[in-house]
Amino acid sequence: MVEITTPTFQNTSVLISPPIIPEQFQLEETLNLGVLASGSGSNFEAIAQSIAAGKLNARIQVIIYNKPKAKAAERAKNLGIPAVLLDHRHYKSREALDFAIVKTLQEYQADWVIMAGWMRIVTSTLLDAFRDRVINIHPSLLPSFPGIKAVEQALDAGVKVTGCTVHLACLEVDSGPILMQAVVPILADDTAETLHSRIQIQEHHIFPPAIALAAKRLQNTDPLV
Ligand code: GRF
Repeated sequence: MVEITTPTFQNTSVLISPPIIPEQFQLEETLNLGVLASGSGSNFEAIAQSIAAGKLNARIQVIIYNKPKAKAAERAKNLGIPAVLLDHRHYKSREALDFAIVKTLQEYQADWVIMAGWMRIVTSTLLDAFRDRVINIHPSLLPSFPGIKAVEQALDAGVKVTGCTVHLACLEVDSGPILMQAVVPILADDTAETLHSRIQIQEHHIFPPAIALAAKRLQNTDPLV
């Protein structure tokens, strides 16, 4: 007889794929990261903590933010990480902003671009300068619900699970090869805020190992492919 058990979610993810097996995410080479953030910067801080804990072999060379009041800048100050404000309103075009971003990243010797809540559409100016090295995080299970208000989109659609995705960025918004995803169940009484806060817990889990995975893929040493 098959025993049927009811899984308890306890407000956590039911699935992360690929699974995070710490030994598989060890990197020989230290990655030099440049982070782009527009808002709170909790993902930026999660990456910094993962580095400090010795889980991700990387250094955050600089964080670039585009909104003068972004909390990410405050976090950078507390973490002792250089923060550069590039206010998008001061640039004539997306390309002009991206050109300034590339220049700043090169100045700080960053080799990887980590879009951690970067609310600007990126152009080939940035993508071509860091080919296969631009990583984005999005609060849905892509390809579902790309674009803004992804959490609200999932609630409106009535889906029963959503989650978050870390992927390589490409010209199309919230597209590009998927590196890692975490599933988050939607609870009956969820609001956009409660759901987003549970999604963010998973974002903080998967972002650092997904960065390692991107590096391993580029070196062709990814044991998971
Ligand atoms: C995250 O939910 C991320 O998926 C989305 O923007 C949010 C940024 O959060 N792209 P934080 O600034 O890292 O706290």
